[in-house]
Amino acid sequence: MSCRIRKIAVMTSGGDGPGFNPCIRAVVRMAINYDWEVLGVKGGYGVWINGEFIPLPGRAVGGIISRGGTFLGTARSAEFMTKKGQMEALRNLNEAEVDALVVIGGDGSLRGAMALEASGFPVIGLPGTIDNDLYGTDMAIGVDTALNTALQAIDKIKDTASSHQRAFLVEMMGRNSGYLALMAGIAGGAEMACIPEVEFELEDVAREVQDAYVRGKTHCIISVAEGARYNANAIAAYLSESKEETGFSVRVTILGHIQRGGSPTAFDRLLATRLGAAAVEALRQGKSGVMMGLVGNVVKATSLEEVTTRGKKLDPAICELAAVLAK
Ligand code: F6P
Repeated sequence: MSCRIRKIAVMTSGGDGPGFNPCIRAVVRMAINYDWEVLGVKGGYGVWINGEFIPLPGRAVGGIISRGGTFLGTARSAEFMTKKGQMEALRNLNEAEVDALVVIGGDGSLRGAMALEASGFPVIGLPGTIDNDLYGTDMAIGVDTALNTALQAIDKIKDTASSHQRAFLVEMMGRNSGYLALMAGIAGGAEMACIPEVEFELEDVAREVQDAYVRGKTHCIISVAEGARYNANAIAAYLSESKEETGFSVRVTILGHIQRGGSPTAFDRLLATRLGAAAVEALRQGKSGVMMGLVGNVVKATSLEEVTTRGKKLDPAICELAAVLAK
């Protein structure tokens, strides 16, 4: 299919993540390489409906490779999920003479992208979410940095936990996915990971804490996914009531949005760069309605339909490994 693209737009949408800026940079620089003009959509879907575009010449993305967040801004827009919002968006894109769009974001953003593509507008999606819950990519942009942030927190908490002989419930983001809590738990040597994908009862957590105490550990770290059946505060309340039984006194740390910020790691910068460049190549090849992702260290296109309908599953073997290594 011949490529008739002359002008593209790039936008970030939904929750931000470290690596969004290097991804925008790669889209812009790659497009310029083919003499395309690039516009940035200010503020994600929320503002996009008002049609605020900014020109992105090569220099506009200078110096952003190491910066967290997204310099274009982002938003969550319920309006974009409506037919009216989508028509408005298409109208604005057509008025600005944009030929194709690159959307960097998570599940909701890629659904929005799919709706545009269904109207015949060329769209390429890129996986941007710290939750790592998107089918079609082993890692989404932002995950590695968020994981390292969570890991640093666990390491630091362990120091003080050991000094005071305490059990800590460290709660991590991830919405309905336990990826961050599981992987940070394994990498940080946590005694247990409480995640939505694995059933657990409060009594199970109390038993793990007690075991750690009896085995002579000076601390007990439990990583808790925000989407787990019981959140960190609920678990802590239960454990505190049974203090005698568990041995440790209990504290809670909720990492929250700290995981979404910070300078992207080398992995996130490289992933963002490869996928951003791949999005432009995909448009050149006449592709649309796909997300470019990393599968087995190879960049692959997966249809947005599949990405948004097939859930991504955690590897059960890794869940089992976490339990074995915690002993
Ligand atoms: O989807 C990314 C994410 O950071 C989730 O992990 C979290 O549940 C949610 O966004 C928080 O959203 P907000 O920034 O709108 O509070």
